[in-house]
Amino acid sequence: MTPTAATETTGLSVRRVSGALGAVVSGVDLAADLSAETIAEIRRAFVEHHVLFFRDQNLTPTQQIAFGKRFGELDTHPFVVANPEYPELIDVITEPDDVFNFGGGWHTDVTFLSEPDLGSILYAVEVPEAGGDTLFANQHAAYDALSGTMKELLEPLSAFHSAGPQYAEGALSTQTKAIKTTNPEGASEIVSHPVVRTHPESGRKGLYVNGAFTVGIDGLHKDESRALLRFLFSHAVKERFTCRFAWEPGSLAMWDNRSVQHYALHDFAGQRRHMRRITIKGDRPT
Ligand code: SIN
Repeated sequence: MTPTAATETTGLSVRRVSGALGAVVSGVDLAADLSAETIAEIRRAFVEHHVLFFRDQNLTPTQQIAFGKRFGELDTHPFVVANPEYPELIDVITEPDDVFNFGGGWHTDVTFLSEPDLGSILYAVEVPEAGGDTLFANQHAAYDALSGTMKELLEPLSAFHSAGPQYAEGALSTQTKAIKTTNPEGASEIVSHPVVRTHPESGRKGLYVNGAFTVGIDGLHKDESRALLRFLFSHAVKERFTCRFAWEPGSLAMWDNRSVQHYALHDFAGQRRHMRRITIKGDRPT
């Protein structure tokens, strides 16, 4: 798909937002009963651009869930208390006096699961007058930019991931006034994923470690593991691999957790932000 393609059959238009990743898709009402062709077109753009942005939507929770289900089975979060009416939906709310911001740090969603979610769909209900943008970083571009020697070193490695740093007892970084976490004893489980994963649809390789959930590299001494992860965490989110999205009420972002990390900026103290998040189940990374 070319950067500004408007397809004749579906009327969708796709415009890139940065050199690294991300595209705004227009010409579609996500509340409508979309044709299989339109969904296929969105999926193609999703795999190509890694994060898609839609503006001026008007979605009820039921319509957001129905849209998400067109891309696969939806997941429920093991540690964040869901919306009481919709178990697959999390209200990501930051109150004006909250000290913490959910998603406030570079991460890939739920890599502590053995089969982490393929994608996430976030819809803006209420946004601050200024601030509250979300950053995204392309992990294929980050991998491609490494030296051949570093790629060879990383290729056979696996890393350990855990929900513990965010969701274990006392890990207050995910607690805001409105977002409650649960099941802290379940957060001690450790899973292992390749450090370099291959995207199952595009075949592209990408880095698959993140500062929120990756806790070590298998087979390395602790200090070696720390040093390598410190390098990878900072390399993976260099400015040239990123894009930035400024939300408006009715904006929706849909990102590919097999390709990106993201970061919800908390630069809107004194204001409220309310987003609704659903996630699509994925497979074991390879
Ligand atoms: C998240 O990390 O899922 C939340 C992102 C955001 O609120 O911008």
